[in-house]
Amino acid sequence: MSVTVGIHDLAVATAGHTLALDALAAYNGTDPGKYRVGLGQDQMSVPGPDEDIVTMGAAAARAVLDRHGADGIRTLLLATESGVDQSKAAGVPVHALLGLPSTCRVVEFKQACYSATAALQAAAGLIARDRSERVLVIAADVARYELDSAAEATQGAGAVAMLVTADPAIAVLEHATGIHTADVDDFWRPNDSPTAVVDGKLSVEAYLDGIVRAWDDYRAHGGSPIDQIDRFCHHQPFTRMAVKAHRRLAEHVGVALDEGLIDVTTGYNRRIGNSYTASLYLALAALLDGADDLDGARVGMFSYGSGAVSEFFSLVVQPGYRSALRGAETEALLAARTPVDVARYRELHAGAALDSRFDVDTPVDSRGPFRFAGIRGRARRYAAN
Ligand code: HMG
Repeated sequence: MSVTVGIHDLAVATAGHTLALDALAAYNGTDPGKYRVGLGQDQMSVPGPDEDIVTMGAAAARAVLDRHGADGIRTLLLATESGVDQSKAAGVPVHALLGLPSTCRVVEFKQACYSATAALQAAAGLIARDRSERVLVIAADVARYELDSAAEATQGAGAVAMLVTADPAIAVLEHATGIHTADVDDFWRPNDSPTAVVDGKLSVEAYLDGIVRAWDDYRAHGGSPIDQIDRFCHHQPFTRMAVKAHRRLAEHVGVALDEGLIDVTTGYNRRIGNSYTASLYLALAALLDGADDLDGARVGMFSYGSGAVSEFFSLVVQPGYRSALRGAETEALLAARTPVDVARYRELHAGAALDSRFDVDTPVDSRGPFRFAGIRGRARRYAAN
């Protein structure tokens, strides 16, 4: 008997500071319209010295556990491309901060922005084997490019935690899925670099190639025809990219697609910036929180991770889903961020790369539930606030 699996709860976290892109535009002499309209971005979240993927991921997961408890959670999958260690999974300190039972496997998933989708599919597989299991999937990233680069305006930081269960309250994951992998050097981060290396134009083309190829594979594997998909969430490295993706898909399929079907999905990413693995799920959160009535709606999801892996899959929103949402909490988090000017943002950017050979105590700065306390004996230390 096939088990109905999907997203039972979804909570968001982001970094504690925010930079207005108008201020960045004024600083570097760019027309603000390029960022607001050309990229579709208004702000970016900026991590403080005591914030990283562990603190943001744990904060998002704390909200999920406060509502649902930890019973039945035997797996924590943390997806990130801004990992804080080459060996130890970032989910292990998250597991400790959350006080999860030791009878829980913890693994990190990596493939650029795509890996949260791989984690979601793996979670569905585990639950199909034992429907009493609940899997905590966390997507957390800090998007950091070089200062004064073309990509600088597309930075950001955020996390999404999802509780994946049988008979979910929010959305059921459909079986059909379309995949495409190609070895492309469009974006990557060498082991010795704190910032990503990117060929911006190539990355846009590789993304657009990924959507049509993943779509074709989705259809070849029994995915719904385009006219049976009610809404679309596309990965949003900057929100204008979702419009480009939507147009490319429409052109490929040969239909006129209504861009209104993606509008509401950009609400959080416009203010958070690129959060890599979390970005697609922030688009989903914005859709669920912002659209009127999605009971029974099928949502097409396009996940892209440079390098490059693409997946197109679909979700069906469950009747009564609104009672499981957290739109007011997410708005409060965004509003609580401290605005910084360009000088402070540049200081935070420059201070982010720490040399693990030196012990350091990180200044208390964030107001989230958890903080990165510093480095001792080359290991990162975390604490509750
Ligand atoms: P750029 O070269 O500075 O920008 O870099 P541009 O000149 O291409 O301009 C951008 C848009 O603004 C253009 O519109 C301009 O016309 C418009 P488009 O032609 O694209 O429709 N524009 C204006 N609009 C209104 N008023 C104005 C104005 N001036 C110009 N005054 C680029 C842009 C995205 C390449 C750069 O920001 C970058 O390299 N970003 C990082 C890479 C990236 O985000 N790639 C996206 C696809 S890859 C991906 O999604 C994966 C990723 O998330 C990571 C992962 O998977 O690991 C990045």
